[in-house]
Amino acid sequence: MNPFEQPAYRDPNEQPAHRRRRALSHVGGRIESEGDPREAPLLARALEVTASTDDYDDPARAHVHGFHTYPARMHPETASWLVRSFVPTRGRVLDPFCGSGTVLVEAQIQGCAAFGTDLNPVAVILSRCKTRPRSGAELSRLVSRARECAAYAEDRRRARAGATRRFAHEDIRLFEPHVLLELDSLRDKIESFGDDPDRGDLFLALSSVLVKLSKKRGDTSDMLDPRRTSPGFGTRMFLGRVEDLAHRLADLGAQLPSGSQKAWVTQDDATILRHVRGPVDAIITSPPYAATYDYITHHDIRLRWLGLDGTALAQGEIGSRNAYWHMPRREVREAWSHELGRFFEAAYRLLSSGGPLVLMMADSAVGDVVLRADEIVAQVGRACGFIPVARASQERPHFHGPTMAAFSDRPRAEHAILLRRN
Ligand SMILES: C[S@@+](CC[C@H](N)C(=O)[O-])C[C@H]1O[C@@H](n2cnc3c(N)ncnc32)[C@H](O)[C@@H]1O
Repeated sequence: MNPFEQPAYRDPNEQPAHRRRRALSHVGGRIESEGDPREAPLLARALEVTASTDDYDDPARAHVHGFHTYPARMHPETASWLVRSFVPTRGRVLDPFCGSGTVLVEAQIQGCAAFGTDLNPVAVILSRCKTRPRSGAELSRLVSRARECAAYAEDRRRARAGATRRFAHEDIRLFEPHVLLELDSLRDKIESFGDDPDRGDLFLALSSVLVKLSKKRGDTSDMLDPRRTSPGFGTRMFLGRVEDLAHRLADLGAQLPSGSQKAWVTQDDATILRHVRGPVDAIITSPPYAATYDYITHHDIRLRWLGLDGTALAQGEIGSRNAYWHMPRREVREAWSHELGRFFEAAYRLLSSGGPLVLMMADSAVGDVVLRADEIVAQVGRACGFIPVARASQERPHFHGPTMAAFSDRPRAEHAILLRRN
């Protein structure tokens, strides 16, 4: 029996979430590689992903991968291929910058034991949500809870009930007043579930609609657009998201090997990794692209609405755009090498001897200072006890005016880089 029949509050004008298109980082183009003749082609193959424009068939949006946006996600086909190529059968794989959990999900599908850390608490609960196998009964219960939340918010809207707490000034700027009240009611009901295991999932569904309901143009944009949202729309969108999540989790569940365990995910600083117990057979990860994003700023709304503490991320985020753009230019390269070096030292401690460290990283720039990820990784890796084995690179379009000149001699590229621990 399908536990998700008869969705309540479905807006007839709203497309199901899994059919909507969202921008994904550019893919496609020529790939060049160098290094070990057996392993370099494996890296090149990891960059060859499907650039689908049809959400319905898009592997990047398949099952749980399409549930919640996250800046600079790894393409699931890349993650899947890297796991297949570099992790032994049923091996232990770690993603220390796990973000939305792409590597962890793909590792689980292939029967590996998946371990993830991230300093962003949103990443931690999102990765946990996607990698915890659920029974049909658990998924039906999740949808019932969401219906309770929606009914509560709808009743309060009709009764013109006021806010349950004072709104942050920033929220008054970002949301229409009636949307704010609906979100407030949903949050109030979700919080009433206490330690219920569904609470995290419900909060993530709320998180997944926050930016869409706000005036913000997108997760990583500071631009605001005017908005006119009909009453009750926010609540219907939330409920639609939970139903969609339940379907996605069921789809994933059908792909997991029987007896799959949940992934182990915790908040930890990847430059220390104090909570992970090694050794692991492989590390597959995409560290932040230097000076490109501020995860703490991009997730500011989510952290506030989900009641999560962003202090550790604010203090420990590496590569943050804000930090690098405020640094004297002459210090940029050394600072990035130092941050990466700390991560390599932590990774060295946990990786088994000869084990692969596979990094997906793009070049970046601060003003006219270019940071070539492949060169810096090889140099820092060697200094920390890793042997650079191979890399594959693919050109990436670059439209950022203030750093355009930095890539005038050689275009910006994304790299798949393999190092092995000595
Ligand atoms: C490029 S994203 C990873 C995206 C991920 N591969 C995915 O598919 O969603 C980089 C991640 O590094 C995290 N991060 C930044 N500094 C960190 C640190 N010192 N320790 C752990 N995670 C950190 C950010 O929160 C972000 O989630």
